[in-house]
Amino acid sequence: MRAGILTGGGDCPGLNAVIRAVARRLHTHDWDVIGVREGWRGLVEGKLEDLGPREVSGILPRGGTILGTSRTNPYKLDGGVESVLRTFEENDLDALVAIGGEDTLGVATRLHEERDFRVVGVPKTIDNDLSGTDYTFGFDTAVWVCTEAIDRLHTTAESHNRVMVVEVMGRHTGWIAVMSGIAGGADVILIPEHPVSVEDACKEITRRHARGKDFSIVVVSEGYALTYESGERREVTQEAATDAFGHVRFGGVGDALAHEIEERTGYETRVTVLGHVQRGGSPTPRDRVLATRYGLKAADLVLASSWGRMAALQGDSIVDVSLREATAELKTVPPAWYEVAKAFFG
Ligand code: F6P
Repeated sequence: MRAGILTGGGDCPGLNAVIRAVARRLHTHDWDVIGVREGWRGLVEGKLEDLGPREVSGILPRGGTILGTSRTNPYKLDGGVESVLRTFEENDLDALVAIGGEDTLGVATRLHEERDFRVVGVPKTIDNDLSGTDYTFGFDTAVWVCTEAIDRLHTTAESHNRVMVVEVMGRHTGWIAVMSGIAGGADVILIPEHPVSVEDACKEITRRHARGKDFSIVVVSEGYALTYESGERREVTQEAATDAFGHVRFGGVGDALAHEIEERTGYETRVTVLGHVQRGGSPTPRDRVLATRYGLKAADLVLASSWGRMAALQGDSIVDVSLREATAELKTVPPAWYEVAKAFFG
């Protein structure tokens, strides 16, 4: 029997740990494991390679993905879906493990539902915005990187009596901002799903300074739209063009916000954009363990022919949920979590 594995969408610490765990479990059941290069593109273009014991050795702590990744969407290519199915059949594959976020697993869901495709999923994204699972792997590492940055920014902010704006990733949701902001003791946290106005954010900073604090740390998600009391909302993007899944490229809201804060409060303000450093490097121990458990579960789903399912974390247990449930809607930050963050505003 032969199983393919692909990693799609933005890379994420822990991908290699999943690949290793899937392969190790399937090898013990005498399955051949085939690496699909660069996400769905590898199945469209027939880019496959053997993943034997030697190929998956030593990759547990490695960041990125040994398989490469892409944002290729076969549904957006002429004959793309037919090419995926053809590559699968021609290479005698019996199963596919798709490791990805909303986009990659959205394709897996459609292929399973519309074409009876033998696929199982693993929830990956630093954004932590997939439903059906408490946490995606990669998120813990991103939060760790951001928290470390916020700690460092504290000491320089304090020395110069400055406001420091930290822009973190999170295309549609503010999970990274909220968790790293709480962990790092941010004074204001701005996220897409609970859009506090620029005016209110400035009031919190002024209130804090009136209490005798001469510096402030503001964490903002890239997907936060500058929101004003007038009702105006301004999304800041790098370019208007969208990718194959319809996403714009965010980036720049931190800079726009810093200008607003400096102008409205008179406090000297600087901005740090953490960008892809949040996705790079070695996964935290927690992500390595989670990724490993997900990989074993995905392999078990393959062995049980449980197609259309995704490994998930609920509480402390690894379970499986349907790909449909996981991709139907994004998991946003619930109000209760944002309340924890807001308790420390100002
Ligand atoms: O979805 C994960 C993510 O890291 C988002 O937080 C971010 O907006 C996006 O990917 C960046 O994508 P790219 O690597 O294409 O710049």
